[in-house]
Amino acid sequence: MTAPPKQSVLSVADVCVRFGGLTAVSGVSFDLKAGEICALIGPNGAGKSTLFNAITGFARTASGRVFFGASDITGKRPDAIARLGVRRTFQNGGVLKRLSVLENILTGLHCETERRIIGNVLRLPSAVAEERSSIARAEEVLHDLGIAHLTNVKAGDLSSGQQRLVEIGRTLAQHSRLILLDEPAVGLSATDRANLGALLKRLAAGGVAILLVEHVLELVMAVSDRIVVLNHGQMIASGTPEAVRNDPVVLEAYLGNK
Ligand SMILES: Nc1ncnc2c1ncn2[C@@H]1O[C@H](COP(=O)(O)OP(=O)(O)OP(=O)(O)O)[C@@H](O)[C@H]1O
Ligand SMILES: [Mg+2]
Repeated sequence: MTAPPKQSVLSVADVCVRFGGLTAVSGVSFDLKAGEICALIGPNGAGKSTLFNAITGFARTASGRVFFGASDITGKRPDAIARLGVRRTFQNGGVLKRLSVLENILTGLHCETERRIIGNVLRLPSAVAEERSSIARAEEVLHDLGIAHLTNVKAGDLSSGQQRLVEIGRTLAQHSRLILLDEPAVGLSATDRANLGALLKRLAAGGVAILLVEHVLELVMAVSDRIVVLNHGQMIASGTPEAVRNDPVVLEAYLGNK
């Protein structure tokens, strides 16, 4: 078996996913490096979410391998992959409606290890300091997303666009080397999209690798270092935003699927 390229955070190697007779993802390969933002685009039903599911353990790969750094994570369970530090949002995800915005973000940051629970019960200085740093991190992300004024509002009372931002914030606040976002800009205003784009750029500048599935091409073009295009499960193009934007095969795929 070939090892993944050395500095890759994510390596997708010849991955196929089948649902009965349908090949939803067909022999897709690409790498993602630290600090890189790669967009995965393609018409509806192209296989983008299925590929996310294959990377994060929610769909079984029929063949091919997925590496997170040097670790082969192919076929591992979603919780095991999440524990390694791979973070994702879902296309139709949601917030915990009865909790406040801040509490929603904190649910992403709290890892309830036994040591931590004992620390919390005894109010050990280490636990108190960790709690403070989690709250500071949550507040920073809420500020970056432009929703700091909603910190103490119950998530269920927010508009759907604001709920989407909270959900994204929960994922982005977590310390991670790899973040996968499935259509984060759905339902967001132009200002919210711009704030989200700026936050993704800042995270990437800090070394996080980001894989972004998105139909909002304005956001894709603004933040991506590279774009991978899927159509009917196959990778039909890969390159810089400029190259992909002008690729006749890509234009044909989009127009042909309308
Ligand atoms: N659990 C499943 N069982 C059977 N078929 C599925 C399943 N999930 C997805 N598919 C099929 O696999 C193909 C790819 O779907 P997928 O959801 O990955 O597309 P997508 O690129 O994310 O589309 P969209 O842009 O609409 O979200 C589609 O034909 C879809 O109907
Ligand atoms: Mg999808």
